[in-house]
Parts: sequence; C-alpha cells; structure tokens
Amino acid sequence: RVAGPCAIVLFGVTGDLARKKLLPAIYDLANRGLLPPGFALVGFGRREWSDEEFTQVVREAVDAHARTPFDPDTWEQFCTGIRFVTGAFDEAAAYERLAEVLGELERDRGTGGNTAFYLSIPPKTFQTVSTQLRDVGLAESPSNSWRRVVIEKPFGHDLESSQELGRAIDAVFPPEHVFRIDHYLGKETVQNLLALRFANVFYEPIWNAEHVDHVQITMAEDIGVAGRAGYYDGIGAARDVIQNHLLQLLALTAMDRPASLGADDLRAAKERVLESVVLPDDLVETTARGQYLGGWQGGASVTGFLEEEGMAPHSTTETFAAITLGIDTPRWRGVPFYLRTGKRLAKRVTEIAIVFKKAVDPLVAPEMLGNNALVIRVQPDEGVTTRFSSKVPGPGLQIRDVTMDFGYSHAFTEASPEAYERLILDVLLGEPPLFPGQREVELSWRILDPIEEAWSTSGAPEPYHPGGWGPTSAERMLGRSGRAWRMP
Ligand code: BG6
Repeated sequence: RVAGPCAIVLFGVTGDLARKKLLPAIYDLANRGLLPPGFALVGFGRREWSDEEFTQVVREAVDAHARTPFDPDTWEQFCTGIRFVTGAFDEAAAYERLAEVLGELERDRGTGGNTAFYLSIPPKTFQTVSTQLRDVGLAESPSNSWRRVVIEKPFGHDLESSQELGRAIDAVFPPEHVFRIDHYLGKETVQNLLALRFANVFYEPIWNAEHVDHVQITMAEDIGVAGRAGYYDGIGAARDVIQNHLLQLLALTAMDRPASLGADDLRAAKERVLESVVLPDDLVETTARGQYLGGWQGGASVTGFLEEEGMAPHSTTETFAAITLGIDTPRWRGVPFYLRTGKRLAKRVTEIAIVFKKAVDPLVAPEMLGNNALVIRVQPDEGVTTRFSSKVPGPGLQIRDVTMDFGYSHAFTEASPEAYERLILDVLLGEPPLFPGQREVELSWRILDPIEEAWSTSGAPEPYHPGGWGPTSAERMLGRSGRAWRMP
C-alpha cells in the first residue's frame, strides 16, 4: 500500500539514527514508489540551515546508507519537498514558523495537512516539544486530516519515569495517534514469529512447558558503543535493548494466540506475557553483567569501553547483560527464559532458540540424545534452523544431532524491507499493530527495575575480552542448572 498525501517533520536531524536509518529509509520508501509525489520532509533543529543545506545533509545520508540504488528522478521529485526550520525545542516562534511551512506545503505540494512528527530526540525533551506543538495548534488533528507522533526509545529510565513520559505524551496526543517505535518489530523475521507459530500445525502443540526445556534469546553485536558514549553511559545494555527489543521478542515468542492481528489484541496478548513474568529470588546469581575491555577483535585493535571517547573514566555501565525470567502461566510454568545481549561479542547475531526436552525412549540410549531445538535466526542470516537427532549411516544405531535450515535468501526472491521503512510506512498508513503500547513499556520496566536495583549494589560489571561471548559469570549463570549458552 502507498501512503496518502502527507509530510514528516523530523526532530533530531543531526542524530546518528536520523543519518543512518531514518533519512535513508524515507528516501527508500520514495524510491520504491510508496510515498506520494507531493510528499514533504521537514527538518527541525537548532542548526542555521537553509532548505538547500538540509537537502545536502539528506543527500549525504542517502548516499551513505540508502538500500535502494540511487535514482535521479526519484531524488529530483523528493528533494523539492525538503524544508528546514531552525529553532530550539522550547522556542515558540520556531513552532509558528513550522506551522507556516506546513501550511505552505499543504497548499503547494498537496500534503493534505497530514503530518507525522517524528521525535528522534532525548526523552527529556519530549514534553517540551509536544507542549509546543500543542500550543501552536499542531498536535490536534483537524477534521479532514491527521496528526501523528512517533517516539523513539528510551521510553524512560525506569517504571516511574516511563509513566511520567506516558502522561506527558497523553496530555497532548490521543493514544491512537502515538506510535512508539521498537525497530525490532519492523524486522521481517520478528513478524514471521506469528506465521511460524500460528500458520503451521507442528509447532504450537509443543510450544509449552511439557516439551520445552528452556528458551534462549540472544542479541549479540560485534561493534562497541561506536561514538555513542554520551547516550550509552548510565543507560547500559539492559536498558538499551533488553527493556525493549528483547522483552518484545520474549512476548511474541511466549504469548498465547492473539484474538486477531489488530493492535489491541496483539498488545493484549503480549501484555499477558509481560504481566506474568516472574524473577528468580537471587537476582545476582541468575544474571550477568559485563563491560568490554580493549584488545583485539577480528585482527583489529579495538578500544575498551572505559577508553571510548567521551566516556566517564570509572563508568560502571554494563555493555553485556544476561537475565533469567520465568513466566507464570500454565503454558510456561517452570521453563526458564534466558535473555542476553552485549557489545563487542564474537559476531553480530540475534536469535531465539527454543530448546526442547530430550526424548525419553528405551529404544535409544539416553546418552546419544541431544536436545531438539528450533532456532529463529532474526539476523543477519535470516531464517529458521531445526536441530534434531538422526541415525548416523552405518551398522548399528548411532544417533547424532543434525540441522535443517530455511534461509530467506534461498526461499524468497522478495527482499525484506529495512525495519524502519516498514515502520515509517505503517505510521503514514495509520497501522498500529507493530508499535508497542504504553502498558507494554511500563510492564517491561517493571521487570527490569528490580534487576537494575540489585545490580546497583552488586559491584562493577565484570570485564570481558572483545570477540568472545561475554563475561564468565554468564556461563556460570546457566551452568548452575546444567545448561549452556548456544554459540550461534
Ligand atoms: C538500538 C540500540 O536500539 O539497537 C543500539 O540502541 C543497537 O545500541 C541497535 O546497536 C541494534 O540494532 P540492529 O537492528 O542493528 O540489531
């Protein structure tokens, strides 16, 4: 589906996210013919940029990061709709200029007055910006057009601040006009969890405590904080990605069948999982926290976290976090869910591994049997792997684990859109199912807060060498129950 007439106003144009993801994704949508010809992009920020200078910024981001091949005709059309409004977030006059520019675009480019305000800015500025938008009359949807607001994580720092943020947004925008981005939900492989589970006959019957031994959700990155020390220090791995991406993956993996694929039903199904999460009594032994050292990774010398540019010299922020959760529902009672994430690990890989209980059958010696597993490879080698036991060719009965793979690149000729393309298009189409609701955000903080609290008195994170799988405490945390992390 193609978006109707509209404009996007982007706050936070100089940020990393805008340059690497948002601006390229918007251009890619135009290049794929998914934006209307009169589409307009308005940047808002403190820089004294002219429209032409901002156009140049957009062009550089497109050249560096767009996924579709550059198309001069698309660009020609696209760049005539680019504007820049200079102003501080709290400067009322700047919002009046913004309203004028949007009025001109409505008249001259036919945007219909439909506007998405994309706040790619620190959460502490959400309230200022949304109040200013309201005061200048831009927050309210006129009768014949829409106004939507897109907000980027972090949605707060803990439960209390996320509630405060929720109230500030609610005071300005009606909930159905608020789109909270968790870009993991824009990934094809994550959306495929629904198809995998509910469009097949053979997974759902064994998707429960009777058959599943445990679940491992891994999001590993090989990069460091990559110039984001200012953002990352004081936040850490758990707040950066467990609170949002990993708990969303958990919710989609563990939820019961939603009554429909509409936003309300999907959110309700995920909320039921998050509400039922129980934490182990000992929050130190069942978790792990690490911080990467400098050293060698893939043949290159890499900087340690504490030596990263702009880092506080004694920072105790973690760059690796692993936690254990239970889900107190009839389906999952007794099954541990292990979540881990880290920077400067062996490779970039995100996967969800459902590890099944071992088969018990007197026909086969128990020591020959491994655990069946279903691994959803979220990225980068998108697909699904099944691990099962098979007879080794030859005399007698020898059993060995083998794998069977489905890879997107082999099975489909259709390319997967970049997560941000899908999500931005959904905002413009007014399709909310891939956006988490405020309650999910709060429930996720409710899970993380006690863990952060326990960590605040458990000492500094354990140092780990780059290029491996994190601190030794992560191994111990699973080793205690006789389990081990997968090496994806
Ligand atoms: C972001 C985090 O949400 O996700 C980053 O803030 C992280 O720290 C990024 O690097 C990873 O996203 P992806 O899509 O590359 O896995």
